[in-house]
Formats: sequence, structure tokens, C-alpha cells
Amino acid sequence: MACRICSGRLREFADFGRQPISDAFVEPGDPREEFFFRLAVGVCESCTMVQLLEEVPRERMFHEGYPYVSSGSSVMREHFHTLAKRLLTTELSGDDPFVVELGCNDGTMLEVVADAGVRHLGVEPSGGVADLAAAKGVRVTKDFFEAATAARVRAEDGPADVIYAANTLCHIPYMDSILSGVDTLLKVDGVFVFEDPYLADIVARSSFDQIYDEHFYFFCAGSVSRMAARHGFELVDVERLPVHGGEVRYTLARIGARTPAPAVAAMLAEEDAAGITRLSALDRFAATVEGNRDRLTALLKGLRAQGATIYGYGATAKSATVLNYCGIGPDLLTFVSDTTPAKQGRLTPGSHIPVLGPEAFRDPYPDYALLLAWNHAEEIMAKETGFRESGGRWILYVPDVHVV
Ligand code: SAH
Ligand code: TYD
Ligand code: ZN
Repeated sequence: MACRICSGRLREFADFGRQPISDAFVEPGDPREEFFFRLAVGVCESCTMVQLLEEVPRERMFHEGYPYVSSGSSVMREHFHTLAKRLLTTELSGDDPFVVELGCNDGTMLEVVADAGVRHLGVEPSGGVADLAAAKGVRVTKDFFEAATAARVRAEDGPADVIYAANTLCHIPYMDSILSGVDTLLKVDGVFVFEDPYLADIVARSSFDQIYDEHFYFFCAGSVSRMAARHGFELVDVERLPVHGGEVRYTLARIGARTPAPAVAAMLAEEDAAGITRLSALDRFAATVEGNRDRLTALLKGLRAQGATIYGYGATAKSATVLNYCGIGPDLLTFVSDTTPAKQGRLTPGSHIPVLGPEAFRDPYPDYALLLAWNHAEEIMAKETGFRESGGRWILYVPDVHVV
């Protein structure tokens, strides 16, 4: 097994067994067999990039029926609107600037750019969500971003002031093609800004469910700066973000084009001191995760044996890992509540638990709810105060198994 960034040797540290496509919610009665792959993760001995050991073909994950929509969380909508306004005020130059977003999904970020009348393009291979973006007035092309796409966009639209990607770059194994595409498309002094789950937060919080088919890479400042250098880029800024359980927003510029902010050296030093990419730390993470899996399974089985009802909350992609790794099925969770229309009426991949709309959650409330969308805990608990008032209790498994 070789590193997808530098061809170095990979050391495996965790194996979650056979896993389905995390966003492939099953139509009841669909006779087609589900696709499974081995979900295992390792670290590169040379460049320290943490990555999956098996790659799922991209068309199996990202297609017309891809169900995830960015606008499903009001906190995330706010997050992307704030970021868009910031890019518009700080990163544009000349009288006809151009903004590109990779994985623009339903256009939650780019709608602000479109409304400001700024030239832009979303590159989004999943047709259904791309249509939602287009309906908001966002200009979008239904393509996978890669070197060839970049060359075409550059020829048609000219160079970009800023290329932005949220929760998308870590989904893409073929990084050489991506970064050479960014090199082709970006203005000489442009920036490539991307934000993804932060390895240090995943390790610190034992949030093992961040590991699933779509999340191919688990970035940190160290691995990203080495990856950038291979293509003539330099890490010039980093910013920790509280969303999705802890992320970092990285800014790359061409080497020498910008002076790196002090935050970069600080984060690199912090990572070195904590040793987050050392095999011993990652082995410890894997051992903690196994313990949490056993505690979660025991808790759910014990509660069910006492006759308690338990529903799941949030049919996240992440929950595919939790449900399948812990062997949680419809015997333990009656159903999973989720607001996404394309997930409702279907079954969770691999574990086959029905997904219903949030009205089912309230009619009647269960005794317990397993918070699968724990990264949206504040938003969800604020909207489901009636559940607590009815005597219901939340079960969480990040950073450890506990009931609140
Ligand atoms: N940026 C949004 C969506 C993240 S989901 C947000 O943060 O909420 C990841 C998105 O990346 C999906 O919409 C998927 O279709 C898209 N994607 C996957 N591979 C891609 C590629 N090579 N180029 C552009 N988008 C890609
Ligand atoms: P999310 O954690 O954002 O991402 P991923 O699928 O990549 O793990 O998914 C959140 C899911 O939870 C999404 O399907 C929408 C759903 N959801 C609700 O049902 N209610 C809510 O209040 C919120 C915020 C999300
Ligand atoms: Zn490597």
C-alpha cells in the first residue's frame, strides 16, 4: 500500500471492517446488492498524511442521486455566508474578479457571491445538488474537478482570484491532478482556501465516525504543507473552525507570493509537540475507539433489554461507520430522524434502519435518542427542547459514551 500523496509506505492503524457507501441510502425492496469495501486507515511514514487504504470509485459516491445538502444546518448556512462575504472583501482584485468553488453542492456559499454580482463558477459532479445551486442563480458545471477540468475552465473563463473548497478536498484521492489543476486555474497571486476535518480534533475527540468512504484524507498543517510544496504552493494561513466537530481552514499561495501568518508556524509547532501523526498516538486512538464501540453497544443493548425505545437523530454519512462498525440495526434503533428529503423513506446503508422525517421523532418522543449528528448538537438540542421536557435523554459517543 503506497501513500497517494508521495508514494511512501503506509502504516495501518485502524480497521473498521466491511463498510457500505455512506450516503447510499437504500430504497426498501431494491434488489440490487449494496457495495461494500474495507474501511481501514493508515499514516504515511514519509509525508505523515493520514489516509484510507482502499479507495471507492468516485462515481459510486458522487452522482445524480447524492443526497447530502449543505443547507440542512442553519449554523452551516451562516458559516458559509460569513466566509463568502469575507472572500468578497479580502481576496478579489481587478475590475472583473472570478471566484471558483469545488464541491459547491447546493450553492450555499456561492449564492452570496452570485447575489453580489461577482463572476463565479461552482464545480459540482453530483447532478441533483448542482441543480439546486443553479436554481438559486449560481453558475455551476456538473464535473469532477481535476487537471482537465481546470484547463477547460481557465480557457473559457480566465484565471481565478480564489479557489475555495469546503469538506471536498479531503474527499479526493487524486491530489496530484487537483493541485496541478489549481496551479493552472489560479492567478499568480491568487489563493486556494479549503477547510476539512482536522486530524488533531479527530484524535483528541476520538471521533472515529469522521472516517468513512468520502473522507479519504485526514489533514493537519504538517501534512498539508508538505503536500502543497510538491506543487509549488505554500501554507500561508490556518484557522481553526468549530464546525463539523473541529476543522481547519487552510490557505495556500504560490511559494514566496505571500508572507505566512504566524498562526502557521504555531500550528506546526503544536502538532509536532503533540505528535499527532506518530504511530503510537494513532494506535492509542484506535484502542480508545474500540473501547467506545463496546461501551456504546452495551449501553444500547442494556436499554433495549429494559424496554426503552431508542431512535437515531441525523442520518449522517458519519453514522454509516458507527452503525456498521458497532453492529447497530433496527433491533436497537427503531428509526433515524432526518430532515433531508432524499434520505427519508429509505434505509440506512448496510444497517438498514428506516429514515423518517423529524415529525416522526415527536410522535411520540422516544425514551432515548442516539445523536448521530453530534457535530450539530447545539443546533439540534435547541430545536428539540420538547424531547428533554418529555423526559427523553440524548446518548452521545463523542468524545466518549455518555447520556445527557
Ligand atoms: N461544500 C459543501 C459540500 C460538501 S460534500 C459543504 O461543505 O457543505 C462534498 C461535495 O464534493 C459533494 O457535493 C460532492 O459531489 C463534491 N465532489 C466530490 N468530488 C469532487 C471533485 N473532484 N470536484 C468537485 N466536487 C467534488
Ligand atoms: P452532517 O453531519 O452535516 O454531515 P455528514 O453526512 O457528512 O456526516 O449531516 C447532518 C445530517 O443531519 C443531515 O442528513 C441533515 C441532518 N440534520 C437533521 O436531521 N436535523 C438537524 O437539525 C440538522 C442540523 C441536521
Ligand atoms: Zn506520503
